[in-house]
Amino acid sequence: MDKAQQDALKKAAGIEAAKLITDGMIAGLGTGSTVRFLVDELGRRVKEEGLQFTGVTTSRRTQEQAEGYGIKIVDIDDVDHIDVTIDGADEVDKNFNGIKGGGAALLWEKIVATNSNQIVWIVDESKVVDTIGKFPLPVEVIPFGAGHVIKKFEAKGYKPVLRLDAEGKPVRTDENNYVVDLHLERIDHPQDLAEDLITTVGVVEHGLFLNMVDKVIVGDPNGPRVMTNGNK
Ligand code: 5RP
Repeated sequence: MDKAQQDALKKAAGIEAAKLITDGMIAGLGTGSTVRFLVDELGRRVKEEGLQFTGVTTSRRTQEQAEGYGIKIVDIDDVDHIDVTIDGADEVDKNFNGIKGGGAALLWEKIVATNSNQIVWIVDESKVVDTIGKFPLPVEVIPFGAGHVIKKFEAKGYKPVLRLDAEGKPVRTDENNYVVDLHLERIDHPQDLAEDLITTVGVVEHGLFLNMVDKVIVGDPNGPRVMTNGNK
């Protein structure tokens, strides 16, 4: 699949997911290229259909895009609930375990997700996998002492790589932390790994989102299809 085909599938999933947002809702808006298509569609509906909803975003990037369309964005602490959050993902398996954070927004994404009544992911079909882990697992780490955390990950065979920007400087998250990507190739015991990562001092959050998502809208060449999680 080339990038144009992949973008077409992402766009179709984003447009389909936008239908879930109705007047008066409080919606969580994720981060990434698939979510950009979602926000474009919501912006169109705000302008052409008079859709009115309130958004909580998982990154400053998404906030800027949404506000550019006149969508009202509020701080997560200014709402008492979020009706539905629509976000992208880097990989998802049949047990609805996924990897997120390719766009370095995993921390805010997980905070928004855990405060949402419903979580929906939008992906192109290439993201649906048998076993997660081929996509490097992002881990958000406090800069102070990050070198020691990386050494601990190396000793455990996690193959950590500090994420750098185009200028060779460490990527900073919206919370000013670093991202360390673990090149694991496959994750057979995601719960154990999640426990190990979150109990490592210096780790703020990891990109394993295990059985959190309610529904995945998959951009498929035959049209968007929905995977529903019956085990949540
Ligand atoms: C950002 C994320 C994104 O949702 C994930 O990386 C998918 O991105 P894209 O839609 O660009 O493929 O987790 O932190």
